[in-house]
Amino acid sequence: MTPDDAEAFFRFNSHPEVMRYTGEPPMASIDAAREAIEHYPDWDDPGYGRWGCVLRSEGSTAAPIGFCGLKYLPETGEVDIGYRLLPEYWGQGLATEAARATLDYGFSTLRLSEIVAMVLPANASSIRVLEKLGMVRADDITYEGQTVQRWVITAPQTPSTPQA
Ligand SMILES: CC(C)(COP(=O)(O)OP(=O)(O)OC[C@H]1O[C@@H](n2cnc3c(N)ncnc32)[C@H](O)[C@@H]1OP(=O)(O)O)[C@@H](O)C(=O)NCCC(=O)NCCS
Repeated sequence: MTPDDAEAFFRFNSHPEVMRYTGEPPMASIDAAREAIEHYPDWDDPGYGRWGCVLRSEGSTAAPIGFCGLKYLPETGEVDIGYRLLPEYWGQGLATEAARATLDYGFSTLRLSEIVAMVLPANASSIRVLEKLGMVRADDITYEGQTVQRWVITAPQTPSTPQA
């Protein structure tokens, strides 16, 4: 996302239904959204972060309808997958599609060995997305002051080269 996406970024990050189970307060203003986009240090280190999601039918320059992507968690050294979409786009498989592409990027391009997800127990649709991705519920942990389910997926095994 670029600062031009600030209004769209604000739209989904300030929506009470979208923010309900994220553990974050709704974003306060378009200026705050622009500030968050402009100062997103993850693109420098570790070099990846959450991407804006646009509808394929609207083209790559369309306004994002949400985000999906990876986030490095310095406190544990883990890499987390997260997603958020405007409610009018829910229930069409879009989060699952974006998350599958994100996992593929994490394993194939970044060569990560494991990706985790943190989800509040009441967030049934997000838990269903994690199931559809083939992620496995690992344990319950305290994250940012709340008890959350921690889900995990490990990199697919590459077939070993047959011995001559
Ligand atoms: C979580 C979220 C990204 C899912 O987006 P989506 O595009 O609707 O997801 P998908 O369509 O790929 O899959 C949703 C699945 O949840 C299911 N679902 C929806 N509501 C559900 C409910 N109340 N209980 C159980 N399953 C539910 C859908 O039926 C679907 O499963 P199916 O394909 O087996 O039918 C979206 O709801 C969202 O943006 N929520 C707010 C932000 C958020 O909570 N993010 C996750 C933080 S951990």
